[in-house]
Amino acid sequence: MTGPWPLTADRDADGALTIGGVSVRELAREHGTPLWVVDEADLRTRCRRYVEGFPGVEVTYASKAWCTTGVLQLVDEEGLLIDVASGGELFTALNAGVPADRLILHGNNKSEDELERALDAGVGRIVVDSFDELERLERLAAAREVVAPVWLRITPGIDAHTHEYVRTGHDDSKFGFTLSLGLADQAFARALELDHVDVVGVHAHIGSQIFGTDPFIANVEVALDLLARWRDEHDVTLAELNLGGGMGIRYTHEDHPVEVHRYGKAVLESVDERCEALDLPRPRLIVEPGRAIVGPSTITLYEVGTIKELPGLSTWVSVDGGMSDNIRPALYDAEHDVLLANRVSDAEPRAVTVVGKHCESGDLVRDHAPLPRDLALGDLLAVAATGAYTASMASNYNQLPRPAAVRVRDGQVQPLVHRETEEDLIRRDVPLR
Ligand SMILES: Cc1ncc(COP(=O)(O)O)c(C=O)c1O
Repeated sequence: MTGPWPLTADRDADGALTIGGVSVRELAREHGTPLWVVDEADLRTRCRRYVEGFPGVEVTYASKAWCTTGVLQLVDEEGLLIDVASGGELFTALNAGVPADRLILHGNNKSEDELERALDAGVGRIVVDSFDELERLERLAAAREVVAPVWLRITPGIDAHTHEYVRTGHDDSKFGFTLSLGLADQAFARALELDHVDVVGVHAHIGSQIFGTDPFIANVEVALDLLARWRDEHDVTLAELNLGGGMGIRYTHEDHPVEVHRYGKAVLESVDERCEALDLPRPRLIVEPGRAIVGPSTITLYEVGTIKELPGLSTWVSVDGGMSDNIRPALYDAEHDVLLANRVSDAEPRAVTVVGKHCESGDLVRDHAPLPRDLALGDLLAVAATGAYTASMASNYNQLPRPAAVRVRDGQVQPLVHRETEEDLIRRDVPLR
């Protein structure tokens, strides 16, 4: 199959969608719906394509995309570093057996506790995001008599033309030291005075779901110009440059993201050109994709529960999940392709509105989904590219237990996350009587 579907997606003799050689009918019968189905071959292939597409570069998985033990272990097995952005993500990664020195800690408001745990565990790099944090880290590292290796997160002033909620590189951002206001310079000058914080590089992430290579190249140029200027002004050449993540992926058949190797080639060529022009040694480079690693590997399987025809208006198709397992359509107006998964149909397609079961009009799965006219209750729908920022942003709105996740490979199914139970939903409640 082509489009936004996982690499092993196919149809069996009965017309049922298969992922990793397993029929969705079997998956729904054995594991229930909604269900996240991870194509392990797809996930591993995307890790490898990134590593091959960026020769000599440290590829880091941004775990915010989906931070669950099994996914982290797969990504770790493929040799990627892992970035964590909270104590909870740090805990999950360490508990998954990822060596601390292969972790990078992010966050615009890391707590003392999070910084202390990172220092005690010995995480590879801490990305310093603010002046407050610089001083906090100095104090905590001094108390431990250690020197923390850090990157300064700069805000490079690049508008990546993506949704405003996933833009981070523009000047007026909550993340990092704004370059155009001189804050990155001030932060570097201050860090040079500190004994327990060692700035080994710069971090610059410009946003998410970016389709062209130009914003990434602009980011390279801005960051390398900064390294050259700091070399000239302070006689210090920083050895590392993290260019962030943000590569766009295909959610619908109409999306045409840049192939990884083209993106890698464009970035590395621009690095080499700029380094040569600035007489700068090529820094150790790091990229930090999340969505592009895990997003396309996964589908969500839902069952159709009601179909409401409003003549002259719309046809509403309700499924058994929705905004609690995929907030992206409501949050970012995101679109994901949807298809009839348990069978093929010769019936004419027509545009329907696929919605979830939550008490909220914005609970959209997909507008104008072309589904066959004979769509019936009990049919299974597959939603494409739901591996990133779905499970990790899931909620229990309307007290819906969160779905299970399984990984499939060569006809085998293994659980990744158990389905939440209704008991789980009240586990933290403190009854009055
Ligand atoms: C600092 C940083 N790095 C990497 C990423 C990963 O972005 P993406 O999943 O779009 O590749 C993000 C996403 O928000 C981020 O904030």
